[in-house]
Amino acid sequence: MAEHVDPGDPNEVAKALASRLADPVGVFAAPGRVNLIGEHTDYNAGLCLPIALPHATYAAVARRDDDLLTVASVQQDARVEVRLPDIAPGTVDGWASYVAGVAWALREAGHELPGMDLVVDGHVPLGSGLSSSAALICSAALAMCAAAGIDPGRDALVDATMRAEAEIAGAPTGGLDQTASLLGREGHALLIDFRDRTTRQVGWRPRSEGLELLVVDTRAAHSHSDGGYRSRREDCEAAAHRLGLATLREATLADLDRLGDDRLLRRTRHVVSEIERVRQVVAALEQDDWSRVGALFTESHASMRDDFEISCPELDEVVATAVDGGALGARMTGGGFGGSVIALVPADAAASIAEQVGERFAARGWPAPGVLPAPASAGAH
Ligand code: ADP
Ligand code: GAL
Repeated sequence: MAEHVDPGDPNEVAKALASRLADPVGVFAAPGRVNLIGEHTDYNAGLCLPIALPHATYAAVARRDDDLLTVASVQQDARVEVRLPDIAPGTVDGWASYVAGVAWALREAGHELPGMDLVVDGHVPLGSGLSSSAALICSAALAMCAAAGIDPGRDALVDATMRAEAEIAGAPTGGLDQTASLLGREGHALLIDFRDRTTRQVGWRPRSEGLELLVVDTRAAHSHSDGGYRSRREDCEAAAHRLGLATLREATLADLDRLGDDRLLRRTRHVVSEIERVRQVVAALEQDDWSRVGALFTESHASMRDDFEISCPELDEVVATAVDGGALGARMTGGGFGGSVIALVPADAAASIAEQVGERFAARGWPAPGVLPAPASAGAH
């Protein structure tokens, strides 16, 4: 059976967390995200269209009189302590490196931070392609800024959280996750153009059309996900280099024949066609053409499966089950090699599709998948 993954009651979570500190400055929430479309396009200076989830990570913070940063998580046993001036690439590892990384990046940007005690509670499933790491980093960023009494602005926070993840946590991601978590808005998808990092809010209210965005967490994590992400980035850089372009954003389908390499051709075809699909989804939304949105989702999945080669049997199974069960369209979301699927489904078919996915997983001996409600929700606050 598929298991329902509840986002929790924000007020209850915040109250419980604040009670763990003697004199809290406040509690700050940052959501996970699903990317509606535009996968592996962020680091190619392309377009992405994520929404923020109702599932968030919460961070409570209190100031200290010394220069220590202490971090505890409801999801981890050990509390981690580090002196702020000692944080540097390679000095903190594991989960706390995400939080220490934010302190490092804010200090690198010239901000003075006090010593702090941070306690976090994550309600975004960990390692499911729904950006629990960005939710952790962004909630910590807001908490630290409040403790320091500074407001660098959301664009500067996107920079700091990206540096934290790349340089201290060692995960060189493309910026999609942090931008979605910091700038998402209720009832909207966020169109991000990574060429100049401009954003535009696009209305996203499938429920008012009798539709539902179902998120299915396959709970499949394949060991090569890190290496796979890195090698896809390298392929894209190699393809751009062969074409004499700064990034694949400048490539067109007419360039494919010039690549002279089948793998690079398929990687490039995914990126170029995926950026175009983002434009087409935005256009379809502006015309209220939800069947077209769904069809583009399914095309995107085929491109990721066949050309970019980042899908896996569990993801393909959810997509096929959703489409067989009446979804307008479905695709994997996030980095790939496991993680989650989004399916645009008639609201009255959502429960039966979730049930069928659970049955097909059970029949194949796979762990029960998770199902999350996903109305477009508020960004970090
Ligand atoms: P995703 O960001 O898609 O969930 P990642 O593997 O990139 O997957 O990040 C998950 C990692 O982030 C966890 O293994 C852990 O190190 C860290 N993390 C996320 N949320 C928390 C939390 N609430 N408490 C402690 N660590 C967390
Ligand atoms: C994520 C990564 C993002 C983006 C995405 C694929 O795992 O953090 O930056 O590249 O994969 O669209």
